[in-house]
Amino acid sequence: MALVLGIETSCDETGVGLVRDGVLLGDALASSMDEHARFGGVVPEIAARAHLEALPSMVRHAVDHAGVRLADVDVVAVTAGPGLASAVQVGLAAGKAYALSLGVPLYGVHHLAGHAAVDTLEHGPLPERCVALIVSGGHTSLLLLGDLARDPVVHLGDTLDDAAGEAFDKVARLLGLPYPGGPAIDRAALDGDPEAIAFPRPLTGARDDPYAFSFSGLKTAVARWVERHTGPLPVADVAASFQEAVADTLSRKAVAAGRQYACDTLLMVGGVAANSRVRSLTAQRCAAADIRLRVPTPRLCTDNGAMIAAVGDLLARAGRPPSPLDLAMHPTLTL
Ligand code: KG4
Ligand code: ZN
Repeated sequence: MALVLGIETSCDETGVGLVRDGVLLGDALASSMDEHARFGGVVPEIAARAHLEALPSMVRHAVDHAGVRLADVDVVAVTAGPGLASAVQVGLAAGKAYALSLGVPLYGVHHLAGHAAVDTLEHGPLPERCVALIVSGGHTSLLLLGDLARDPVVHLGDTLDDAAGEAFDKVARLLGLPYPGGPAIDRAALDGDPEAIAFPRPLTGARDDPYAFSFSGLKTAVARWVERHTGPLPVADVAASFQEAVADTLSRKAVAAGRQYACDTLLMVGGVAANSRVRSLTAQRCAAADIRLRVPTPRLCTDNGAMIAAVGDLLARAGRPPSPLDLAMHPTLTL
C-alpha cells in the first residue's frame, strides 16, 4: 500500500497530510491568516512567501505526527489549482521537488476534488454517485461526483458573485462582529429570531438557474436594512434572519440537485458547513428526501493537506497515470 504525501497551498493555509490506503496517518497545518487580516482579504504574495517559509517544517511535523519517515513516501500529491496563482506555484514546486528527490510519482490534484475526497478518510468510500456542496470563504459550488479517481467531476453550479463564507464575513462586519464572521454570526444568531426580517432568497425563483448561487444581493439587503434602521441594532435578529436566508438557499438547492440526479448521498464541506443552522436545515431536508448527509469533521472541512493526500491515494490505488514533472499550475482549473 502506497504512502501518499499531500501538499495544499492554494490560499492562505499551508497543509501537509499523509494517507495510506484510505487512512489519515498524520497531518500539519499552518495559516498566514493573521498576516492578511489588516488588508481585509488574502494577499497572494504574502500567502506565497508564508507557504515557502512554512512548508519544510509542516512536512516535518506531518511526517513525525504520522510516525513515518520522509523516505517511506511512495507518492506525492499536490494542489495544481484552482487557487491564488503564486500560492499554488509554491506548493507545486515543492511537490515536484519532493517527488523528484524521492524518485516517486507525482499527482497534480484539483482542489475541489480534495474537498470532496477528504470525507472518505472519515466515513469510508463514497457511493458511485453523489452531490457535493462545497461552501467556504472561497467557494460555493454544487458538484456531481462519480468515481473521483476516474470520472470528471461535473460542476452543477457556482456562485455568480460572493462565496457564502464571504457573505458571512461581510455581514458580520456590518453588524460590528469580529472576523471570521461565520462563527460570530452563528453565535449571535442563537439569541435571535430567524423570522424577524424577511431577507431575500437569491436565485430561488421558478425561472432562475436552480443550481446557481448569488450572495452579494443578500449582503446588500442586510446593509440597506441596517442603514434604514433607527435605534439600537437588533444584532441577534439580523444575524439569525440572514443566516436563515443562507441556510434556506444552500439546503434547498443542494437537496433539489440530490433529487434531480437520484443521489442517495449529499456531501457538504467547507467552513460554512460548520454553521449550525446550515447543518440542521440541510439535515432536516435531506431526511425528508431520504438522502444521507455526510459532513466531515470541521477540521477536515477547511483547507488542509489530508484532502490532497486523499485524492492522491484514490488515484494511486486506481492505478492512474501520474502527472508529468513539468505539470503547470492552473489558477482557474475547471473540473
Ligand atoms: O473553508 P474555510 O476555512 O476556508 C476557505 O475559505 O477555504 O472557510 C472559511 C469561511 C469563512 O468565510 C468563515 O466565516 C466561514 O467559513 N465559517 C462559517 C462558520 N465557520 C466558518 N460560516 C458560517 N458559520 C460558521 N459556523
Ligand atoms: Zn478550499
